[in-house]
Order: sequence, then structure tokens, then C-alpha cells
Amino acid sequence: MQNRISCATAFLAVAVFSSWAVLTVTSTTDTYFTGAVFEFVQTQHCTSDPEEAMEVIQFNLDIFVPVAVLAKSKGADIIVFPEYSIFPECSRDQTALFCEVVPDPKKVKANPCVEAEEFADRTTLRTLSCMARNNSIVVQANMGDMQKCEGEPGCPPEGHWQYNTNVVFDKDGTIIARYRKEHLWQEYHFDLPQEKQDPKFTVDFGTYLSYVCFDIFLERIIEEELDDDVDGVLFSTMWENTMPMGMTVEFFQAWVMATNLTLLAACIQLPGQMALGSGLFHGQYGALAYTYDPDGLQNL
Ligand SMILES: *[C@@H]1O[C@H](CO)[C@@H](O)[C@H](O)[C@H]1NC(C)=O
Ligand SMILES: *[C@@H]1O[C@H](CO)[C@@H](O)[C@H](O)[C@H]1NC(C)=O
Repeated sequence: MQNRISCATAFLAVAVFSSWAVLTVTSTTDTYFTGAVFEFVQTQHCTSDPEEAMEVIQFNLDIFVPVAVLAKSKGADIIVFPEYSIFPECSRDQTALFCEVVPDPKKVKANPCVEAEEFADRTTLRTLSCMARNNSIVVQANMGDMQKCEGEPGCPPEGHWQYNTNVVFDKDGTIIARYRKEHLWQEYHFDLPQEKQDPKFTVDFGTYLSYVCFDIFLERIIEEELDDDVDGVLFSTMWENTMPMGMTVEFFQAWVMATNLTLLAACIQLPGQMALGSGLFHGQYGALAYTYDPDGLQNL
């Protein structure tokens, strides 16, 4: 842990479309950042029609954009969106329609908002990047990422891999992290990455890891979080609560207390599948702000 990050300020607002109620949690320490997580009501529309697939993406992004503006208006430095919030779990062919080629930030410095022409047909990346840039806020979102693989060993018949991927944009809208989920959970529509992913990135308020859902249970994350320079984890998930050990909020609180790290966790709100529970958690303080209410509403 770096000492300069001694506490995270958190807030949680409950949103019912136009009426927003806001609850703020403020720490008394003088070094802090403000984080926001969005618990999203998932759109469950699968389609094999490319135009309809675009409409699904657009529908969801149209909700994200004002949410980021609201988060910024409350002083947020970062906003985390859940897993499967831009499109739902569909068949492999249908999922391909939602995927975009996400550049590797280790190889190229890409800013889809600035390079709008190059990213003209990648609506998700362009919108998320502009959202980060317009509001000067770090954004983590979970999307589908596609990579051509024709001629490579094991390449699927369609000629590309597709991955469940977190993408992180800095406050200028530049892609600073791309993390492909390493532990898929009955997701036959996605492929496992061919190599170990690098979830680490640094922003003005610290060094963080970007993880998706089931990854948090496994040895890999433990390996990484033990690095001294890591301050916390940004976690996008569609977590189905199970008794007694797999309850979101309890697990998140126990996790930060055990690791003494910060966790920003954004889950889908899908009470029918027991998926809910999001919040901001910090070391020995545990939960700074959280929501755990199967009300079928979005929560920021
Ligand atoms: C947890 O981290 C804080 C801030 O870095 C530090 O002051 C504190 O001693 C740590 N607590 C434990 C139990 O390691
Ligand atoms: C960003 O700002 C530009 C210019 O005001 C606007 O046209 C665009 O819709 C905004 N995009 C997002 C995602 O906020």
C-alpha cells in the first residue's frame, strides 16, 4: 500500500430514472479520492441481427453517459460499471455482434474519443472514452473484445477469439488497461485468454488492479495484490449470491479487511438470479458505502 492513499471517500446515490437521491459518505482524513460504482439493471435482449445488437449497446450506453455526469457532479474521480452491463450473456454468435477490437495499451496509446475516425465503427470504445474525457473521470467498463486469429493453433472456426474484457480509460479518455477475464464461469460464448493478463494500472490516486467476477476467488489475484505498490482492486461483476460464503457485500467487506486494500465493486442488479450487491470498501474501515437491495432499480 502507498501511504498517500489513506482513505477513499465514497458516495452512493439511488437512481430511479429522473429522480436521484444521494447519500454521501465522507472521511475525515485529508488524502482521499472519491469513487463511484453503478449497480445496473441488466438488459436481457439477445439478438442475431447486427442492427438490433447495436441498439442494445446504444440503449445501455445512453444510460451510462448521464450516470457518469452525475458521478462527476458529486466529485467522483472514478466510476466502475458492472460485468455484462453493455450487453447480456448470449450465444457465441450473438455475443460476437457485441464485441469490438480493443487495442492493447501495452503496445499502442489509443484514445478512441480523440481518434474518432479510426474508432468510427467501435461505438462502445468511443463512447466510453468520450465519457471519461468529457467528465475528466477514470472509467472502468466491461465489454466484449475480439481478436482475429486465422491460421493460429486452436483458433475457433469463426476466425477470431472473443473475450470478456474490462477496459479502463484515464481522465483524458486514453485506454490504460485491458484485462481479459481469466476464470470464466459457464461462459461458453467467451474464450480464455491465451496468456496471463496484466491487470495493473496507475492513475493519479494510486495503483489498481482490474478484475472480473470469479477472478477474485483465485490464486492469481492473491499473487498480484501482494505487490506492495497495489492500493486496491476495481471489480466488475455479475455475482450470484450464494449462502453462506458467497454473499457479495459480506465477502467484499471481509476481503478488504483481510487484504487491507480498497475495493470498488460494481455488480449487476438481477434479483431473479440473485445478482446484486455493490459498494466501496476500504481496509480496516470495511464498507464505506454499499447497496444490497433486490428492488430491481439501478443504484449509483
Ligand atoms: C492498513 O493500511 C493502512 C494505510 O496504509 C496502515 O496505516 C495500517 O497500518 C494497515 N493496517 C494493517 C492491519 O495492516
Ligand atoms: C462529449 O462531448 C461532446 C462535445 O460536447 C459531445 O458531442 C459528446 O456527445 C459527449 N460524449 C459523451 C459520451 O459524453
